[in-house]
Amino acid sequence: MRVLFAAAECAPMIKVGGMGDVVGSLPAAVAKLGHDVRLIIPGYGKLWQSLDISSEPIFTANTMGAAFSIYETKHPLNGLPLYLVGHPAFDPERIYGGDDEDWRFTFFASATAEFSWNFWKPQVLHCHDWHTGMIPVWMHQDPEISTVFTIHNLKYQGPWRWKLDRITWCPWYMHGDHTMAAAMLYSDRVNAVSPTYAREICTSEYGENLDGLLSYISGKLRGILNGIDLSQWDPKTDKSLPENFSAENLSGRAFNKEVLQERMGLEVNSDRYLLGMVGRLVDQKGVDLLLQVANRFLAYTDSQIVILGTGDRSLESGLWQLAVENPGRFAVFLTYDDELSRLIYGGTDAFLMPSRFEPCGISQLLAMRYGSIPVVRKVGGLVDTVTPHDPIRKTGTGFCFDRFEPIDFYTALVRSWEAFRHRDTWRDLQLRAMSQLYGWDRSAIDYETMYKDVVGIKEPSPDAAEVEKLSLGQDADPSLRSHKRVS
Ligand code: GLC
Repeated sequence: MRVLFAAAECAPMIKVGGMGDVVGSLPAAVAKLGHDVRLIIPGYGKLWQSLDISSEPIFTANTMGAAFSIYETKHPLNGLPLYLVGHPAFDPERIYGGDDEDWRFTFFASATAEFSWNFWKPQVLHCHDWHTGMIPVWMHQDPEISTVFTIHNLKYQGPWRWKLDRITWCPWYMHGDHTMAAAMLYSDRVNAVSPTYAREICTSEYGENLDGLLSYISGKLRGILNGIDLSQWDPKTDKSLPENFSAENLSGRAFNKEVLQERMGLEVNSDRYLLGMVGRLVDQKGVDLLLQVANRFLAYTDSQIVILGTGDRSLESGLWQLAVENPGRFAVFLTYDDELSRLIYGGTDAFLMPSRFEPCGISQLLAMRYGSIPVVRKVGGLVDTVTPHDPIRKTGTGFCFDRFEPIDFYTALVRSWEAFRHRDTWRDLQLRAMSQLYGWDRSAIDYETMYKDVVGIKEPSPDAAEVEKLSLGQDADPSLRSHKRVS
C-alpha cells in the first residue's frame, strides 16, 4: 500500500508537541509491515541546515495564488522518503503562530494535494490535525486517494469557513464550520489517539463544541493508542544519560538523579523525593493545578520539583515565582531541551501529568520506560496507559486522581510521596512501570487495518440537513458567528 503522512511536525527535526513524535515514529512502524510509506511536511527554514536535501526541486506548481517547490530528502532516523514544501512563508524559525498561520498551513495542505494528484499518488493520505484538514475535503471526490484523519488535539480547529472561502478553494459540496469540522466530515476514517479520548470527545465536556458532529460521524471514528519508538527511548542505551540503567539493574538512576539535582540547582541528595514535569506549559497540561498545590506540598514534604518546557507566559511566570520562593526545592527551565528531558525521565522518582484533557500523552509512556512513576489525572489516554498503584495486590503503574481539583491532585501527590518512603514496594512499582512496553507494533497494525478498510472506498457525502443542525451556531464565539455570516 502507498501511504503519505502529511503533518506540520515531524520529530526529531521539527517537534513542538507529541504529534511530532507520532509523525516521527509511526510511519516506520507501518513501513515495517511492508508498505511504501512517505512523509510530507512544510520546508521550515531550519531544516535546510540540518538535512541533506535535493538541490533541485522534484516538483513545482502554483496553488492559492502562490508558487511552491517540493524538495526530497530522507527522514534522518528511519530513512523514509521525506518531502518538503518549499515556500518563503515557511522560512521563519517559528512553526506555529503569526498572522499568516491559517494561510500558511492551508497552503501546505493545498500543496500536498497538488503533489499527490500530480507527482506521487498515495492510496491513503494520512492527515494530522487541522493543518492538513482541508486535504480530505479536496480528496472527497477522488476515488483513487482515500483519507484518514488523526485528531491529536481537538482544541485547535483551524480557520473558520468565512476565512477559508477567502484564502482557498472550498468545493461546492463542502460543509463544516471550520477546517477541523470539515476534515471530520470528509475523511474516510477519523481516529483519536487513544480509545478513551475517542469516547470523551463525543461528550460536551471534552467535545470542544464538536461532540454533536463527532457523534454523527461515530461510525467512522476509531481510537488508536499512540506508541513510542522503543529503540530511541531506552534507558539501557540512551547516550544522554550520565549512567545507563535497566529493570535488571536500577543502580544508575541514583547517580542520574544527583546529576539532575546539581544541574537544576537543587539540593543534591538522592533520598529526596524528586518529581518532574516536561512539556508544553499550557492550560491543557494542568500547570495551573500545580501552581495551586506546589507550595503546600513542598511545605508538608521534603520533596523537590523540576519543570522543563515553554508555553503560556502567565503559567511560565507562575512557575518562575515558585522557583524564587523555594530555592533548592523547585527548579524550572523555560526551554525545550531533548537531552535534559531524558535526564528528567531517567533521574526523577515521579512524573507529573495533571492534565485537564489528554488525547493520549507521550511523556507518561517515556517516564514509565525510564522508571519515573506517573502521577496523572484519570483522563484521555492517561486512563488507557497508567493504572492505579495497589501495594496490596501488587498491581498498577502510577498514581491517579479523578477530578480536576487541587485537593484531588494534592492527595495523589501525598499518596505517591508516602509510597516512595516504602522503598521495596516502590521498586516493584518501578519495575512494573518499566515493563509496560508501549511500542508501536500493535497500534501500527490497527492503522494498517484502517488503511485497508478505506483503500478504494469513499464515505458517502454527509447529509447537508443533518450537518446544518449540528453546526456550531449556538455555542460558537459570537464574533466568529458574525464573521461566518459574511461568507
Ligand atoms: C497532542 C496531545 C497529546 C498526544 C499527542 C500525540 O500533543 O496533546 O496528548 O499524545 O498530540 O498524538
